[in-house]
Amino acid sequence: MTDYDAIVLGGGATGLMCAAVAGQRGRRVLVVEHADRVGKKILISGGGRCNFTNLGVAPDRYLSANPHFAKSALGRYSARDFLALVERYGIAWHEKTLGQLFCDGSSRQIVDLLLAECARGRVDIAVGHAARDIDHADGRFRLSFGNCEAGAPALVIATGGPSIPKMGATGFAYDLARRFGLKIVEPRPALVPLTLGGDETLFRSLSGVSADVLARAGKASFREAALFTHRGLSGPAILQVSSYWRRGDPVAIDFLPDRAPGWLRAAKREQPRATLRSQLAAALPDRLADVLAERIGLVRELANCPDAQLDAAERRLAGWTFHPNGTEGFAKAEVTAGGISTAELSSRTMEARRVPGLFAIGEAVDVTGWLGGYNFQWAWASGWAAGMAL
Ligand code: FDA
Repeated sequence: MTDYDAIVLGGGATGLMCAAVAGQRGRRVLVVEHADRVGKKILISGGGRCNFTNLGVAPDRYLSANPHFAKSALGRYSARDFLALVERYGIAWHEKTLGQLFCDGSSRQIVDLLLAECARGRVDIAVGHAARDIDHADGRFRLSFGNCEAGAPALVIATGGPSIPKMGATGFAYDLARRFGLKIVEPRPALVPLTLGGDETLFRSLSGVSADVLARAGKASFREAALFTHRGLSGPAILQVSSYWRRGDPVAIDFLPDRAPGWLRAAKREQPRATLRSQLAAALPDRLADVLAERIGLVRELANCPDAQLDAAERRLAGWTFHPNGTEGFAKAEVTAGGISTAELSSRTMEARRVPGLFAIGEAVDVTGWLGGYNFQWAWASGWAAGMAL
C-alpha cells in the first residue's frame, strides 16, 4: 500500500491540472488513468489544435442547475492565467474567432505542458489501469489498480462524462459519486448534432450545405454557421443551441439575420423582375435557396407578389422552425450536460460537503460550457481550485 496525500481518478484535462497544482504545493499525488495514455480528448480537441480557452469566459456562458456555482473557480483561475501558462511553455497560439484560442501547432503541446507541470510537482501517473475496490474508512480512501494498492485522505473524481464512449468515456464518475451519496443531475448529450424526421427529412438533400444563421432554442440564440447533415442539423450554431434544447422543443433559424424587416418589399420596388429564389441565392448557397424558395412556394416575380405574401415569406425566413426528433447522442456529443450536482460541492474547493476529502472536478460536474474553449477553461479552473485545496 503506497500512501499519498491525494489520489486523482482520471488523467484528462482537469485531473492533470489538479494533480500538477497539488503536487507543486508539496502534496504527494497519484493519478490513475484507465486508458493507455493521458489526455486523449485533449489530443483530438479543436481539430487537433486544442481550443484551450476563450477570452470571453463568463459564468453566464455555462449551463448548470446552479448558474452561480462556476463563478468562484472561473474568477480565481481565468483564461488569462491559462494563457500565461501556455506562453511560459513557449507554445505559439492564435485567436481564431469569437475569442477562441488555439495552438498554432498541435494539441500534443497542451498534453506535454500538463505532463511537464505534473513532473514539476513529482506527480505519479499510472496509466492502463482502472481503479478497483474503492473503499473509504477512518478518513482514508483506499483503492487498487493493476497489482498496486494506494491510500490517501483525499480522492478526486476527474473521470469526465460519458460523451464519446469509443474513446473510453464512461459514467464512472456518477456511479462513484452515487456510492458516496451525492446527487446527480440527469446527464444528457450537449454540443451535439440534432436529428430531423418526418417531412423535415427533405432537408437531408442539403447534406453538406452550411450558412451563417441565427439559431434559437428556448431563450438561447447563437449567430454562427449551421450545417445540414444526412441526419439533420449540425455546425457551431446548432451545437451551441443543442445544449439548451430539450426534447419536444423547436429550434428556430433566421436564415438572413442581417436583413432588416421590409427587405423583400424593398427588393420588389428596386428589382420587380427578381424572384424570391434569386434574392435568396444572392445571400445563401444555391441549394439552400432552392429548397427554401420551393418550400415557401413563392415562385412568381416579386412584382406579382402581394406585399402580405412577401411579409409572410420574410417572417418564415427569419424564424424557420425545425422540430428535431432527437440528438445524435453521447456517441457524437462533444460534452455531457448535467452530472454531479453542484449542490453537493463547495464552489471554492470542489470538495463534497457531506464527504470530507472527496472532490469532483471537470466535466463530471454539472457545469457545461459553450462551444469554443469554455469547457477546457472549466476543466483548468475547477482542477486548479481543487488542487489548491488538497
Ligand atoms: P476528460 O474526459 O478529458 O478526462 C477524463 C479522463 O478520465 C479520461 O482520460 C478517461 O480515460 C479517464 N477515465 C474515465 N473513467 C475512468 C476510470 N474508471 N478510471 C480511471 N480513469 C478513467 N473543449 C474545449 O474547451 N475546446 C475544444 O477544442 C474541445 N474539443 C473537443 C473535441 C471533441 C471531439 C470532444 C469529444 C470534446 C472536446 N472538448 C473541447 C470538450 C473537452 O474535451 C472536455 O470538456 C474536457 O476534456 C473535459 O475534461 P475532463 O478532464 O473533465 O474529462
